[in-house]
Amino acid sequence: MDRITIITPDDWHLHVRDGDALATVVPHSAAQFARAIIMPNLQPPIVNTELAQNYRDRILAALPGHSAFEPLMTLYLTDNTPAQEIQRAMSSGIVYAVKYYPAGATTNSDSGVTDIHKCFDTLEAMSEAGLPLLIHGEVTDPSVDVFDREQTFIERELVELVARFPKLKIVMEHITTSNAVAFVRNAPANVAATITAHHLLLNRNAIFQGGIRPHHYCLPVLKREEHRRALVTAAASGNPKFFLGTDSAPHERGTKENDCGCAGVYTAHAALALYAEVFDAAGALDKLEGFACHHGADFYGLPRNKESITLERSRTPVPASFPYGKGTLVPLRAGASVAWRLSGNLI
Ligand code: NCD
Ligand code: ZN
Repeated sequence: MDRITIITPDDWHLHVRDGDALATVVPHSAAQFARAIIMPNLQPPIVNTELAQNYRDRILAALPGHSAFEPLMTLYLTDNTPAQEIQRAMSSGIVYAVKYYPAGATTNSDSGVTDIHKCFDTLEAMSEAGLPLLIHGEVTDPSVDVFDREQTFIERELVELVARFPKLKIVMEHITTSNAVAFVRNAPANVAATITAHHLLLNRNAIFQGGIRPHHYCLPVLKREEHRRALVTAAASGNPKFFLGTDSAPHERGTKENDCGCAGVYTAHAALALYAEVFDAAGALDKLEGFACHHGADFYGLPRNKESITLERSRTPVPASFPYGKGTLVPLRAGASVAWRLSGNLI
């Protein structure tokens, strides 16, 4: 198959940042996706509906004139998010989920949750309202190995949460291990997971390929090959619990090529092409549409998109960098290529 036409997909986990950065990254996502769940980990974070409304306006202002791209906003859960905020979020009509970052787990998570039990009233309100909880599932315990933090989070927190809130929609974001795949597969239907393109394409060797590779450093960190394979099997299985979430996470070049480099891989410039490579290699291009276009919308209870897009097999160069505010942004595959491109699209 050298051409594939699918319903326009959605990205269920995306970082677009703020300010000048929006002008670079928002058009990349809007060229491929109809909607995206926008992560709230700005500095300061998007902790209430009013901040989400203003942030949404700034994202819309960065869209190319013809674009109908819809940012689906999220709130950043803190120890003090009042249960009443959930009602405000629901009545606004622009908030689609709440994000749980364990404090200190990743980029801009300092105001995250120190103990999830403090949030149980708010989670109850979300459960009643049908508002999904999106989880960065890694423990922050310094005694737990960085490669084991997802698995330990499942054992220490997720099992309890799923049991305690049987109706709460929970998305385990950017899963990276066979343990997470198995947990989600065996959990009830209200538990799902997103999978990134980079965790499907790369194993942890990519961080050390010929030297230290800061542009392959993200959180959760890349894992062993056996885990990558488990993710590919899950994504290509057709199981509706697994859907597309790029976790495209732009950082200015100097903040990654740094003594203490930031976590995050930028994939929005070629997200769909990267996923197409994975599904093609797995002999499962026929499963791409479910993963990218149906499962997420169905889980969130949103209508599937109506338009369609066409991907064609065509080796397409990736720029060495994009302008990014006053600096530059180094994308995945910088200076190399991807095997697919969107028909009629030249980014
Ligand atoms: C994300 C970021 O840069 O905001 N980084 C990352 O490595 N994925 C945060 C996150 O989703 O963990
Ligand atoms: Zn993320």
